[in-house]
Amino acid sequence: MKILLVGAGTVGRAAHDALVARGHEVVAAHRTSAEYPIDLTDPSSIQRVLDKVGPLDAAVCTAGTTPYGPWDDLDRDAWLAGINSKLLGQVELVRRATGVVRAGGSFTLITGILAREPIRTGSVAAAVNGALEAWVVASAGELWGRYRINAVSPTVLTESRDKYADAFPGYPTVDASVVGQAFVRSVESMETGQVYRI
Ligand SMILES: NC(=O)c1ccc[n+]([C@@H]2O[C@H](COP(=O)([O-])OP(=O)(O)OC[C@H]3O[C@@H](n4cnc5c(N)ncnc54)[C@H](OP(=O)(O)O)[C@@H]3O)[C@@H](O)[C@H]2O)c1
Repeated sequence: MKILLVGAGTVGRAAHDALVARGHEVVAAHRTSAEYPIDLTDPSSIQRVLDKVGPLDAAVCTAGTTPYGPWDDLDRDAWLAGINSKLLGQVELVRRATGVVRAGGSFTLITGILAREPIRTGSVAAAVNGALEAWVVASAGELWGRYRINAVSPTVLTESRDKYADAFPGYPTVDASVVGQAFVRSVESMETGQVYRI
C-alpha cells in the first residue's frame, strides 16, 4: 500500500520501520522535511503535501504536540496551542485526506496514555488525547463503508523513557517495535473505531 506517514520522531520511526518491513511504500512528511514539509497547524501545508503525494491507500499520523505545565499555568493560549496542533491538526489531516485516500482506505492517529491515566502537568494532553479518541470512535461510525479510522494510544515508549522519566515516574513502557505493530494492524486489518491501548 502507499501510505502517508506524518511525523518522523520516536513514534514515527516505529511506525515507519514496521510498515516498511511489511512491504508498504511509506511517504514520510514532517515539519522540517525537505521533500514533504508539513505543519499540522497550517491547513494549507497539509493540503500541499496531499496534493503532492497523490492517491493513497492510508494516512498515518504520529505528530502533534501539546504543552505541559502546572494546572494553574495552562492558560487559554496553552489550551489553544494543544488543540490547534495535536487535535485539530490530526482532524484536519483526516478531513482533507478523504480527498486522496481511496475508498476503503484507512486513517490512523496518535493519542496516548494520558487519555486514561493522567499525570501532573498533563491536563491539556489528557483532554486532547481523550477528545481525539472520542472523535475516532464517532468518525468510524460516520465513515462506515467508506474509510476505516483507528487510534494508537501508547504508554511511554521504552526509547523515550529517559526523556519522560520525571513526568512518568514508575510507569510501564512499551517497546517501539510493539507500537509499530499497532500501526500495521490498523492499516492492514478490517478494524475501525479502535483505540489500541498499548
Ligand atoms: N514518545 C512517547 O513515549 C509517546 C508515548 C505516547 C504518545 N506519544 C505521542 O506521539 C506523538 C509523537 O511523539 P514522539 O515522541 O514521536 O515525538 P518526537 O520524537 O518529538 O517527534 C515528533 C515528530 O512530529 C513532527 N511534528 C511535531 N509537530 C508537528 C506539526 N505541528 N506538524 C507536523 N509535524 C510535526 C516532528 O517533526 P520535525 O522534527 O520536523 O519538527 C517530529 O518528526 C506525540 O503526539 C506524543 O504525545 C508519544
